[in-house]
Amino acid sequence: MDMSGWPSEWTAYESLPLMEKGVALRGAKHVLVAQQFVREDLEVLGELATVIRRVSKSQEGARFLKGLLCDKRAMLYFAQPSSRTYLSFLAACQILGLDTMDVRDSKTSSEVKGESPEDTVRTFSSYADLIVMRHPQGGFAERVAWMLAHSNREVPVINAGSGADQHPTQALLDVYTLARSFENRGGIDGKMVLFAGDLKRGRTVRSLAWMLTLFEGVNVVFAAPEALQIGADIQVLLREAGVPFRLCDRVQEALPEADAVYMTRLQDEWDGEGEQSSLSETDFCVGVEELKLMKPEAVIMHPLPRRHEISRELDNEPQAIYWRQMRNGMWIRAALILQRFGREGLVLDSREEWA
Ligand code: NCD
Repeated sequence: MDMSGWPSEWTAYESLPLMEKGVALRGAKHVLVAQQFVREDLEVLGELATVIRRVSKSQEGARFLKGLLCDKRAMLYFAQPSSRTYLSFLAACQILGLDTMDVRDSKTSSEVKGESPEDTVRTFSSYADLIVMRHPQGGFAERVAWMLAHSNREVPVINAGSGADQHPTQALLDVYTLARSFENRGGIDGKMVLFAGDLKRGRTVRSLAWMLTLFEGVNVVFAAPEALQIGADIQVLLREAGVPFRLCDRVQEALPEADAVYMTRLQDEWDGEGEQSSLSETDFCVGVEELKLMKPEAVIMHPLPRRHEISRELDNEPQAIYWRQMRNGMWIRAALILQRFGREGLVLDSREEWA
């Protein structure tokens, strides 16, 4: 596994600015931060996801895919609630024939006996060839990957959501969804993406906003109450990447210009003692009236789960692509997993057979 560029001391890595962490991780098998991807990675993954999707349509194709990783096992370690991310990773493993094991609640692992989370994950690596993990602590997936990289059994770690900071695989599926939606309209380049809701603690927005900087001529609007606005660190990254963006405090204000509207829920699980954050139900929600303000070909996305950010009346409108977005997660995660094992060539080389 190529770990060139990853500092040999954890503290040296930990103290790097986010962008430099991403650069250090380029070419690594671990998927830890959105910043480790370059545009070509996104294109290669998207293409692979689409081929996997096509191949899986026939019984023969599905059987072929199931043979690709039948000698591998994956550990799904989800120490935080999850429906879509967990299920889509599980489904992705099933598509590729990986056997899976899981811990979905750290209360059921030896952590309750006083074992350190690091030892727990090292234990997983003894039985599994891949660790997919979601953890409440920001940076924990990185620490685990670093530890495994310096052990005698380095298995790839995929960050399936860490703290309120990163959710790189969600950003990958969001980019894939955007690219497919704008396929006949010049792709993501030149589009305006409007993010709304709790942008401060929404890790999906933090990862995706940065990934959009890999496209040409994109501009971004962040609609959130002041207390929940996108972090200064992400603003700095956008500025450095030359991506024009502005902040506003009502989603309605920017709807007419948006090509994609990315709604998010209040992340109140991160509220501190005595803190009670809130999101206005008029200013950060879209319904029938808001739809009228939008361009007819604009798309509405949501990482889900939703509360009331998107009215159910919109669910079957052509602009509502959050269900497709969710399903895309399964394909892009299958592509990502296959790539971790360097076996994507097996699918790409035989793609004509399944066309
Ligand atoms: C998101 C998450 O966990 O960060 N969900 C997801 O993975 N689809 C968004 C959220 O919980 O609001």
